[in-house]
Amino acid sequence: MAETLIISQSTNKDERYQSLIPQLEALVSGEPDVIANLSNIAAALRQSMNFFWVGFYIVKNNAMPAGRQELVLGPFQGPIACTRIALGKGVCGTSWKEKKTILVANVDEFPGHIACSSDSKSEIVLPAFKNNEVALVLDVDSDKLSDFDNIDELYLGHVMRMIEKFL
Ligand code: SME
Repeated sequence: MAETLIISQSTNKDERYQSLIPQLEALVSGEPDVIANLSNIAAALRQSMNFFWVGFYIVKNNAMPAGRQELVLGPFQGPIACTRIALGKGVCGTSWKEKKTILVANVDEFPGHIACSSDSKSEIVLPAFKNNEVALVLDVDSDKLSDFDNIDELYLGHVMRMIEKFL
């Protein structure tokens, strides 16, 4: 496993992702532990892309009421965040319910957005699948409006496909 992260100094987002993705592959290569890998991916994304908040919400079975599933906060980097999110709630719960990536240019305009931090202005959420069901979502928040686009969707999509290999 690679233990140092080479951070591209490029101001071009595309180039920064291109430098990062093979390093993420090396970071998780041969390591089957899901939490260890998600932790390092969150840290590497934060370090190299300078995201305001980046982390995972994992689909888990809730004890009360028994059988109902919820998203539960997983490995992340950034300010403390809400712990549990119900299906269909907020951007994360909507991505889970609709099984698709959601880009939000202005969180104040997303009905039901869950504001963990008032500094968060825009957001992208991508699902990862196991057996055709959403197993977790990656949530990335920015303190700037309209900070995410199809380049983030493309490269973070690669990250999700990488994650699916060890889920
Ligand atoms: N804003 C998210 C909740 C998670 S925090 O931003 C870290 C949402 O609406 O789902």
